[in-house]
Amino acid sequence: MKTKSTLLTTAILLAAGAMQAQSLQLNADNVEEILKAMTLEEKATLCVGKSSQGAVGANANADDMIGMHADLVPGAAGMTQAIPRLGIPATVMTDGPAGVRINPTRPNISETFYATGFPVGTALACTWNQELVEEVGKSIGNEVLEYGCDILLAPGMNIHRSPLCGRNFEYYSEDPVVTGKTAAAYVRGIQSQGVGTSIKHFAGNSQENNRTEVDEIIDQRALREIYLKGFEIAVKESDPWTVMSSYNRLNGIWTQADRELLTTILRDEWGFRGIVVTDWTGQRNTADQIHAGNDLMAPGMVEQTQEIIDKVKSGELKIEDVDACVRRILQHIVRCPRFRGYNFSNKPDLKAHAAVTRQSATEGMVLLKNNNGTLPLKDVKKVSVFGVTSYNFIAGGTGSGDVNKAYTVSLMEGLNNAGFEVNKDLANIYTNYIAFQHAKADATAPAGFPEMFKSYLYARYNVETPIERAVIDNQANASDIAFITIGRQAGEGQDRKEADDFNMTEIERQLLQDVCDAFHKVGKRVVVILNMGNVMETASWKGMPDAILLAWQPGQEGGNSVADVLTGKANPSGKLTMTWPVSLMDIPSTKNFPGAESSSSGMMSFFRGNAPKKFWDYTPHAEGINVGYRYFNTYGVEVSYPFGYGLSYTTFAYSRPVVKATKEGFEASITVTNIGAVEGKEAVELYVAAPAGGLQKPAQELKAYAKTRSLMPGESQTLTMKVSTYELASFNEAESQWEAAAGQYIVKFGASVEDIRASAIYKLAKPYFLKVNDVLKPSRSQFAGK
Ligand code: BGC
Repeated sequence: MKTKSTLLTTAILLAAGAMQAQSLQLNADNVEEILKAMTLEEKATLCVGKSSQGAVGANANADDMIGMHADLVPGAAGMTQAIPRLGIPATVMTDGPAGVRINPTRPNISETFYATGFPVGTALACTWNQELVEEVGKSIGNEVLEYGCDILLAPGMNIHRSPLCGRNFEYYSEDPVVTGKTAAAYVRGIQSQGVGTSIKHFAGNSQENNRTEVDEIIDQRALREIYLKGFEIAVKESDPWTVMSSYNRLNGIWTQADRELLTTILRDEWGFRGIVVTDWTGQRNTADQIHAGNDLMAPGMVEQTQEIIDKVKSGELKIEDVDACVRRILQHIVRCPRFRGYNFSNKPDLKAHAAVTRQSATEGMVLLKNNNGTLPLKDVKKVSVFGVTSYNFIAGGTGSGDVNKAYTVSLMEGLNNAGFEVNKDLANIYTNYIAFQHAKADATAPAGFPEMFKSYLYARYNVETPIERAVIDNQANASDIAFITIGRQAGEGQDRKEADDFNMTEIERQLLQDVCDAFHKVGKRVVVILNMGNVMETASWKGMPDAILLAWQPGQEGGNSVADVLTGKANPSGKLTMTWPVSLMDIPSTKNFPGAESSSSGMMSFFRGNAPKKFWDYTPHAEGINVGYRYFNTYGVEVSYPFGYGLSYTTFAYSRPVVKATKEGFEASITVTNIGAVEGKEAVELYVAAPAGGLQKPAQELKAYAKTRSLMPGESQTLTMKVSTYELASFNEAESQWEAAAGQYIVKFGASVEDIRASAIYKLAKPYFLKVNDVLKPSRSQFAGK
């Protein structure tokens, strides 16, 4: 029997213990102590995001899948859970690549929370300007911080394997170096604001159709050189706080449960020190995910927390694996603004950021054609503006990559703002048509359909409308020039199709023909503006107009940005980061990419037949490393516009190519001189052709690039780029090693992959080898070789 005094002592000890636990609060230096103090339940809680209001995964509706959290920051995609006992705050994750994606309004308050809609990823990459991308990142990062978020779920950096991928607009390029360098610049910019990023979707998320189930079959060489390389560069050059593991399987295993991918490669080989977050999936095999090194389940389900607890208790999951994830999450949380107690304003400087997006968008635009100096516009006052999207300009794509921006400047508004007289009769035809179409769309919407999702609804109704020839003839007489905008919208959950999307529609073709015919007859010019986030067919029609400006989806200031380029206020210096083929069938991956048939299954459809379906249940990347210019350039296949191509209003000369050996590899420099009449910037692309004797390689591969400052006529600048021997190497699957053959490497300075202006030689005296882990074999998949 216990005496009174032992009872008292026990009580005092318990109280002291409780006080100690209470006083133990997370700080940057006591992560291990906190870890020791945590119960299994608390550890499991920290590894699972705070579930949003509904089901996720296979039973999800669109809101859950693209994130709609009501807590802390309404509309943010997800959160980590708080453990107040240990001073661990909840943190907030928000989409996405083109700016902060949160709800613009909140119930019962008049204040608004619009974020700036920046140019889509593809447009940013086409600037070939890493400093500019970093500056844009700073503005986006500032909005993340000032809207009370901790992590931006961006950048998207999957490879443009096919122009049909519905999310290419969020991604950067067909080339891993452009992808990696652009992502690294973006991450550095955002993280300079004291908030984090999530480079996504790691890895091999090449298609949207059946993205949560499809097994992407990719050989080890293509993985190492193409699909993983961009992530490797971004991890090594920018230290992202988080990586998002993708929805798909990769060579038979969910990327989210793949220890070879998330631990062996990402952490052991590349030195990643942040956390891995799943893409917004439901419950899978949580124990395998934790074991793989996937720290956080997002958006999170209570069932996942329970599964971790149960499986640790049953011995199926080691507590050491859980601890490794929890430790990393704690180390992550102490970096977050919410942990620092940052007093966010909810008032980022939207005006200043509008100026940033207006200017950066002009630099990503690519002038594809400019016959007889059609652009910049001269002696033009009255303009005829054709095309539905001229009045309904597309700022960005749909899905989680969309931003709830306060406005989008249309091309018509941009031209008006720049002082042109936009023909009112024609404008009325289009604006009435658009109003009519939107009324039709509204009629299909269920009661209470959220305003912010109307753009999805309208997208289907924004189809081109025929314009009578007599109307066009009148316009040709009344105006000095014609603009035709061709628009394309795409987004998450569904891939594009060839007919009426990659290819022109019949109505568009007729409009282009009639407008060119009518305007050319009276000696007037026609300019086509491409307002899209992806590639379309151009070879069959590009001969018709006088100029073609690829404006991409340029963000909320779109119409102003286009007008800046048309008038010459900004000299275009964007270049293509992907090949524009003559036809879709010319691209090797087309033979192994879902076609229209599976697209028709629709967004978020989880239909599966009985027998495994190719391109649905599994997709072979049979073309291996023959992605983009690596294929076209090596095999001499004609393209419509090559990788790296883009015109300017001025002309540049390249001189004094120099290559100097360094300890790591070489340093290459080139002098660029503006020999034209107007100020402008030039991006120089550095390609390398390897000597024979080693692995079979593409004819040449991009290894680095740099861009001049704005050079005045007559002015020169010398650009210097570094390349290491490791970066020259290719992957030998049989030996599981990187290899670079000894011999002469031709270092080429190009204005595009087909326009090499100068070259020099680099001699590698000894062959180079670097052994790495023999992992991610296609043979892990039941579909290997099928
Ligand atoms: C997308 C991610 C996004 C997440 C959260 C997913 O459906 O694939 O890119 O970050 O939703 O909204």
